[in-house]
Amino acid sequence: MTTAALQWGGRFAGAADKELLAFGSSLDDDFALAPFDVACSLAHVEALERGAIVRPAQAAALRAALHAVEAEIAGGAFTAYARSLAAEDVHGAIDARVRELAGDAGEWLHAGRSRNDQVATTLLLYVRERAHAAAQRSHALARAFIVRASEELEAQTVVAACTHRQPAQPVLLAFMLVAWSEPFVRAVKRFLDVERSAATSCPLGSAALAGSGLPLEREGAARALGFTSPSRNALDAIGNRDAALDLAHACVRVAVDASRIAEELIAWSAPAYGYVHLGDAASTGSSLMPQKRNPDPFELVRAHAARLVGAYAGALGTLCGLAPSYQRDLQVTKSLAIGIVEDALRILGAFERAWASVAFARERMEGAALEGYTIATDVADAMIADGMPPREAHARVGAQVARAESEGRALDASLDARASIAAKRTRGSTAPADVRDQIHSLKSELATLDLSAQPVLSEVEG
Ligand code: ARG
Repeated sequence: MTTAALQWGGRFAGAADKELLAFGSSLDDDFALAPFDVACSLAHVEALERGAIVRPAQAAALRAALHAVEAEIAGGAFTAYARSLAAEDVHGAIDARVRELAGDAGEWLHAGRSRNDQVATTLLLYVRERAHAAAQRSHALARAFIVRASEELEAQTVVAACTHRQPAQPVLLAFMLVAWSEPFVRAVKRFLDVERSAATSCPLGSAALAGSGLPLEREGAARALGFTSPSRNALDAIGNRDAALDLAHACVRVAVDASRIAEELIAWSAPAYGYVHLGDAASTGSSLMPQKRNPDPFELVRAHAARLVGAYAGALGTLCGLAPSYQRDLQVTKSLAIGIVEDALRILGAFERAWASVAFARERMEGAALEGYTIATDVADAMIADGMPPREAHARVGAQVARAESEGRALDASLDARASIAAKRTRGSTAPADVRDQIHSLKSELATLDLSAQPVLSEVEG
């Protein structure tokens, strides 16, 4: 540990314990914040210059050094540098490098700022960028389901929909695919909300917790970073992790949504169902049983989602009873939140790739659509439409089912699965015309969700 990397120490006579410094380092977890720290530091230089705390020549030297660090981060060299310093966090590592590169001017970068401000501000920039990326991935998945829904609507593929995993009623496969798309449309909206609310209030200039005695020009710095305004209260700003938690929450939610569809596909890919065939690109084999074709990517989506639920509970837990200010515990909140977000993006990416390998076995689905007496509700509905009280119709058809079941035969009914589907008349049903409307409406909703915004960093620097 070179003491140059530590940003404090004047009041200590002895050296810090190496093991404890390593225990306290967040470097492994906050590397994702490195590019955002550069942007944040450039905005701070602007606040220093406008407040006449640094001279224009010093500001220029700081900017040049920060752009050099930016290139080192992008090129990958910075990781090894930061590790070699055994810095406490990525913010300390960047500060150390700027001091090496900018000479005397480098000593002025940290005027009027604390790592508390940097952690809070860079985390918000990170949240904005990753929320946008997560919105894009959720959007892509929603669209992927809708594309297949349109195809299956054309093919009029029929499948038995289940509740309690027991056959319930025949539906169009397209209807089911619309149902799979819906949660991802909601996820897009959730991510865009998080992105918007993370861009309102900029903590930079909070100066650890009470505001600065130096005349930092906060408005310009907030604007340069794409925030609506500087934060209102410094003490709240440096301890507020709402945006990171909101993003983590939205990420866990969408991972759980993906896990539910993954479960359906896992079941459907088993020969006992045989509703889908998973292509070679997304299948794995067994090292012992030569015949196996396993749906590992979907199983892993399911498991990772469960793991994220635990991590989210952990992140929320770190805030429990934490006095409203900066406490070191927030370092762990940050690490957990970043881990959740990065994992969720990986989960969505893997799901999308695996989904491209899913082929539907239309005839097999159709052949099984009436198994389990899925037509029983239609038979009862017909009796009710003819004037029979619903309880009586239910009981009669129940008795017919029991008889047919004991005799090992199908129900005597003039209806088939397609007629059942076509007979549905309420809005939101599986009737083909309604499913066409649902697809149309989902497509136009997806088109109105604006994902065109620039990534945060290019916006900040452009
Ligand atoms: N490494 C810490 C974190 O990531 C920042 C340190 C903040 N300030 C302090 N006085 N320890 O949260």
